Amino acid sequence: MSSPASSSKKTARCCWPLLSSSIGRKWIVALTGIVLVLFVIGHLIGNLSIFLGPDAINSYAQFLKNLGEILWLVRIVLLACVGLHIWFTIALWRENRAASPQKYAVKNDLQTTMYARLMRLSGLTVLAFVLFHLAEFTWQAFTPEYKTWVDVQGRHDVYRMVIAGFSNPFVSAFYILAIGLLAMHLSHGIASLFQTLGVTTAKMRPVFERGGLIVAWVIFAGYISIPLAVFFGLLRYPAAACSFCH
Ligand code: HEM
Repeated sequence: MSSPASSSKKTARCCWPLLSSSIGRKWIVALTGIVLVLFVIGHLIGNLSIFLGPDAINSYAQFLKNLGEILWLVRIVLLACVGLHIWFTIALWRENRAASPQKYAVKNDLQTTMYARLMRLSGLTVLAFVLFHLAEFTWQAFTPEYKTWVDVQGRHDVYRMVIAGFSNPFVSAFYILAIGLLAMHLSHGIASLFQTLGVTTAKMRPVFERGGLIVAWVIFAGYISIPLAVFFGLLRYPAAACSFCH
C-alpha cells in the first residue's frame, strides 16, 4: 500500500494543481477542517435542544431522519472531509520530517514539536471518540434495545437514549475528556487554519489565536453541559414522555 506522502507525490505529477504543492495540501487540511468545525457547531446546537425537553430533541432527530438522501449526502461529505483531513495531515507531517530530519532529531523547535504532538494525539483521540460515539448512539451497538425506544408520538426516543447513555458516569467522564481534547485540537486548529488561508498578519495573529480559543472552549462548555446536567439530575426522564412507563 502506498503511503500518503508517496501517493500525494504521484497525484502531484498527474493532475490537480491544489495537490501539487504543500501549500495546496495545507489548504485541503484547512478547508476540510472548516467543514468539520461547522458540523461540530451545528451538531452542538441540535443537541442543546435537549434542554427544551423530549419533544424538541426527538422532533429534531426525526427531522434529520426525514431528510433521507440529503442526510446521506451530508454524511458522505463529512466522511470524505475526515478522510482527506487525516490523509493530508499525515502527508504533510511526513514531508516535514523528510525535509528536516535533524530538526525532529534534536527537537530544537520544542514548541513546534509539542504543538504537532498535541494535534496528533488530540486528533487521534477525537477519531476514537467519534467511533465510540457512533457505535453508542447511531448504530446503538452497545445497547440494541435503544432501537426500540419510541416516544408517545412514535418517534425514536433520542431524549431517553441520551439520558440513559450519560447515566453511566464512566461514559460521561470519557465524553468530557474526549471533548476537552477536541477543544484543544480546535483551539490550535482554528488559529492555524487562518494562517494557512493567508489571512493572518502579525497584528491579527493574537486575535485569531484568542478567537480560536474562545470558540473551542464555548464548544467544550456546550457539549459537556449535557452529561453534567444528567449527572446533577437537571436532565431527567419524565414519565409523560416515556413510552414504556405506565
Ligand atoms: C454531549 C455530547 C454529544 C451528544 C449528546 C451527542 C448526541 C448524538 C446523537 C443522539 C446522535 C445520533 C442521532 C440519531 O441517530 O438520531 C449523534 C450522532 C453523531 N454525533 Fe454526536 N453527540 C455529542 C457529541 C459529539 C461530538 C463532540 C462529535 C464530533 C466530534 C459528534 C459527532 C457525531 C456524529 C458524526 C454523528 C453521526 C451523525 C449521523 O450520521 O447522522 N457528536 N450524536
